[in-house]
Amino acid sequence: MDVIAPHRPQSLPERDPSTLLNYFQFKVHHTKLDFTVDWEKKILHGKANIALETLEDVESVILDSSYLDVKSAAVDGKNAAFSFGERGILGSEFKIEAKIPKNTKFNVDLVWNTTDQCTALQFLEKDATDGKKEPYFFSQCQAIHARSLFPFFDTPAVKSSYSFSVELKLPALMSGRPASVDGNIYKFEQPIPIPSYLVAIASGDITKLPIGPRSHVYSEPSRVQACQHEFEHDMENFLQAAEKLVFPYEWDQYDALVLPLSFPYGGMENPNATFVTPTLISGDRENVDVVAHELAHSWSGNLVTNCSWEHFWLNEGWTVYLERRIQGAIHGEATRHFSAIIGWSDLENSIKAMGDSAERYSTLVQDLKDRSDPDDAFSTVPYEKGSNLLFLIERTVGGKEVFDPFIPHYFNKFKYSSLDTYQFMDTLYAFFKDHKEKLDLIDWELWLYKPGMPPVKPDFDTTLVDQVYNLADRWIYATRNNDDLTKLFKPSDIEGFTANQSVVFLETMSSFNKLDNFKWKDFRGALHVLDQVYHAYATSSNAEVLFRWFALQVGGENRRFYDQLGEWLGTVGRMKFARPGYRLLASVDYDLAVSYFKKFESRYHPICRAMVKKDLNL
Ligand code: BES
Ligand code: ZN
Repeated sequence: MDVIAPHRPQSLPERDPSTLLNYFQFKVHHTKLDFTVDWEKKILHGKANIALETLEDVESVILDSSYLDVKSAAVDGKNAAFSFGERGILGSEFKIEAKIPKNTKFNVDLVWNTTDQCTALQFLEKDATDGKKEPYFFSQCQAIHARSLFPFFDTPAVKSSYSFSVELKLPALMSGRPASVDGNIYKFEQPIPIPSYLVAIASGDITKLPIGPRSHVYSEPSRVQACQHEFEHDMENFLQAAEKLVFPYEWDQYDALVLPLSFPYGGMENPNATFVTPTLISGDRENVDVVAHELAHSWSGNLVTNCSWEHFWLNEGWTVYLERRIQGAIHGEATRHFSAIIGWSDLENSIKAMGDSAERYSTLVQDLKDRSDPDDAFSTVPYEKGSNLLFLIERTVGGKEVFDPFIPHYFNKFKYSSLDTYQFMDTLYAFFKDHKEKLDLIDWELWLYKPGMPPVKPDFDTTLVDQVYNLADRWIYATRNNDDLTKLFKPSDIEGFTANQSVVFLETMSSFNKLDNFKWKDFRGALHVLDQVYHAYATSSNAEVLFRWFALQVGGENRRFYDQLGEWLGTVGRMKFARPGYRLLASVDYDLAVSYFKKFESRYHPICRAMVKKDLNL
């Protein structure tokens, strides 16, 4: 079999183009990272000891670095000469002179400071925290920011076990098992080999409460109880559902840290310490799917890892697939499908929003060989096209019963290592050799390498969306008919909806805007009635709901909501809301969007700030 032969590289896994180094010449046995913190200068002082082995004769060790101020390098205890290459999008090559023959074990010791240009860290002044008592800092290394925290083989193809320590006056968390606290020194052990993008650190006025027999939530003291309430109901159920699907959780504890508002993602699967956005804390336990997602990464991503960001779908597509299987195991198949329906429409919207760049960025396997920034390629595509491909494979081989044994097989085969799409394909075809004809029916070339929507839309179970679509249809029909809306609709229409059903309702309402002969701005009266009857939306504590509410009202050019949206944007640093939020506001009032952005800019994470600036052409 080789349905994707033309794309196959000479040796597997394919080389990572998003790194500057000769990583494939080495094996990393263990890494010690020690940090101290300079809160004044907002930098970390770092020391590393990396235990390496050569796989070939080498002339030098080249590590990734980005805006690092390296003080010294030593090889096996002897000072070694080092130099930096010219800076580019991927950082600067950091070269240590070391002539070492094949199959030799050796140690590299490094001493460095991060700088104020570090893209992996954000330092927050006291005032930017909830409690306003202590400063805070945290890291976000995925995709290629680890190189601005420590010099390393910053590629998901290289894994190492770690011993971490950090000395500081506030509690700290790192992506390992808490090992000891000795005065101001916090130590963590990560015995499972992990790639550099999973190295994480955070510190501030944080405290913890249990959310399950092997889980805690950490946050600032003022909201830790709310965080516990949000997650304690589901955490252990998620863990057990995932273990049943794959195999036992190998990381010991699963803890989550709820960060300040500037955390730019929904969640980040840092091992033993998932980082999440405070926008999950809505009081209704309706954003826990993000925790199921980050937990699922404990297998897909953290044990079995994409070997480069070109094969990112192996991390995220698998994770979304597992996340929905977890939800399905707990709440039933209809819930799984409901989530997939939302995902499908996200995918449609995101590919549409790409415009001309969809040609490049909407393929499942990405091409980053021009050494562009993997953050620029980030989109819903690897998540939704990827999970839909796995769902299609599941149906093609004969459903869950036939597909499910493949899950532990695949995760066992590749755990502690990193792979590419070709290896995934080989493993799939080998496992299902009796179903080859069926698998051959899948148009792999189209799924993996062609831009645009997936070729097949699954026959989703619409039980949970039907009533939502119904209500939306009634609204649009009555609005077009100029019926008396106040008589036709009542607050109770939406009272039984889950937050996610409300999300779908509001998105469906917004989607009518794209119909040829209908624009909400021509029916502002209807938007006004909607606000009166379903007032609960305007005051929702659920960020997902509130955001869709703004999208509908502001998208319909209902001016009353422009400032509400602007002010709300000052409270959400999660890019999922901040980026489309500013784009939405700019689409109706560019100057207003810019003035709100200027007002709140300092609250955002550097990654988010840069992205919104790009979006607003600033
Ligand atoms: N690993 C990602 C976050 C990420 C991806 C950070 C690429 C930097 C570069 C994480 O697991 C994720 O996918 N988070 C989602 C939530 C999820 C429920 C889809 C997010 O942040 O919205
Ligand atoms: Zn993810």
